Amino acid sequence: MAQAEQTQVAIIGGGPAGLLLGQLLHTAGIDCIVIERQTRSHVLSRIRAGVLENGFVSLMEQAGVATRLHEQGIIHTGVSLSYGDRHTRIKFADHIDKNVTVYGQTEVTQDLYDARDQHGGTNFFSVEGVSIDNLDSSKPQVNFKQHDKNVVINCDFVAGCDGFHGVSRKTIPDDVRQEFHQEYPFGWMGVLSETAPVHDEVLYSNSEHGFALCSMRSQNLSRYYVQCDATDNVEDWSDDRFWEELKRRLPQDFSNQLQTSASIEKSIAPLRSFVCQPMQWGKLYLCGDAAHIAPPTGAKGLNTAASDVHYLFNALVSYYQDNNEQGLQQYSTTALARVWKTQRFSWWMTNLLHRFPDQSPYERRMQHAEFDYLSSHPTAQANLAINYVGLAY
Ligand code: APR
Ligand code: PHB
Repeated sequence: MAQAEQTQVAIIGGGPAGLLLGQLLHTAGIDCIVIERQTRSHVLSRIRAGVLENGFVSLMEQAGVATRLHEQGIIHTGVSLSYGDRHTRIKFADHIDKNVTVYGQTEVTQDLYDARDQHGGTNFFSVEGVSIDNLDSSKPQVNFKQHDKNVVINCDFVAGCDGFHGVSRKTIPDDVRQEFHQEYPFGWMGVLSETAPVHDEVLYSNSEHGFALCSMRSQNLSRYYVQCDATDNVEDWSDDRFWEELKRRLPQDFSNQLQTSASIEKSIAPLRSFVCQPMQWGKLYLCGDAAHIAPPTGAKGLNTAASDVHYLFNALVSYYQDNNEQGLQQYSTTALARVWKTQRFSWWMTNLLHRFPDQSPYERRMQHAEFDYLSSHPTAQANLAINYVGLAY
């Protein structure tokens, strides 16, 4: 006999998208249940992005979970790019009255789980065999096993926040789903180190040896990345090799100041662009990585999950409070309009900053020209600044 639960919104996926939606729904008095394949500690062990758009910070404030973010987050009023030994800073305020905040996704997820505990939100962890059923009816169901017990969640709506490898997207029929893929011929080797950051803002570096990125989580916790071969494994990258590669990919002004130490976390991320259309099917609505993936070059993955959540949350509030279904009917169209703009920016930044194995001398010279344009022309800088801090929802 299955354990039966009833809720208004079943959220599949207890990552940032699912948790942020859950917390916003709680503030609006809409009941939801979070269903997560992993354990909470596994979810919280992930080291991911760290740059929050202005809109993301506002959503965290709206959800009532921004206290630690404001205490510990680092506001950046600009971003730097370098090409060889030259570097240039783009000051956001010269173009738009917005900034970004550096605050790790792990901390965002922790804050959201803490809030969910405080209000007694129902979560199912370590679930298996999740299936979404009756999506074309008024009473969809989410079925799964937890500790060998069958559980069924009866709900009004299902939010598919289960990431790129989840089940939600694949529940949309193959003949309905349209998927756009772009693989990149390289990955990012990332290191976390207990060192003072080499720079007080994020630095993206295009060098003859490949791309590098300098970021941070606090004044004594640095986050660095170097472009690596798509076939590399973490075992191929000793700390010494990583620091040597990073140093030679940074302008002298920065590499001379780089503090190195033993890594406390190392991981390799593949780079891909991906979009699924539509982002809804019957009573199922996709948010975040379940629907789209962007290369981390523009720091748009987490931030576009947030704009999806914003649109879906407001559509659900309109439905439950005003009996207005227009937001739900338009969700996919509305969300995709912004998704494709963040895809464009992430694709553009990736092509601007990386060394592609088959790049011609002409294409290399185009990257150089783009950097010169960015270094000297306000319009070019405005384009980057406006997209980097986050397009309006
Ligand atoms: N059933 C339940 N949960 C699942 C299933 C499933 N079948 N498949 C995956 N999940 C869970 C994963 O364990 C994960 O915790 O769904 C969650 C999805 O979280 P994310 O992958 O973090 O995706 P999202 O919440 O959309 O956040 C996007 O996270 O990984 C980063 O780069 C990504 O910054 C982006 C952000
Ligand atoms: C990070 O701080 O992890 C980070 C910063 C900027 C990016 C990607 C990752 O574009």
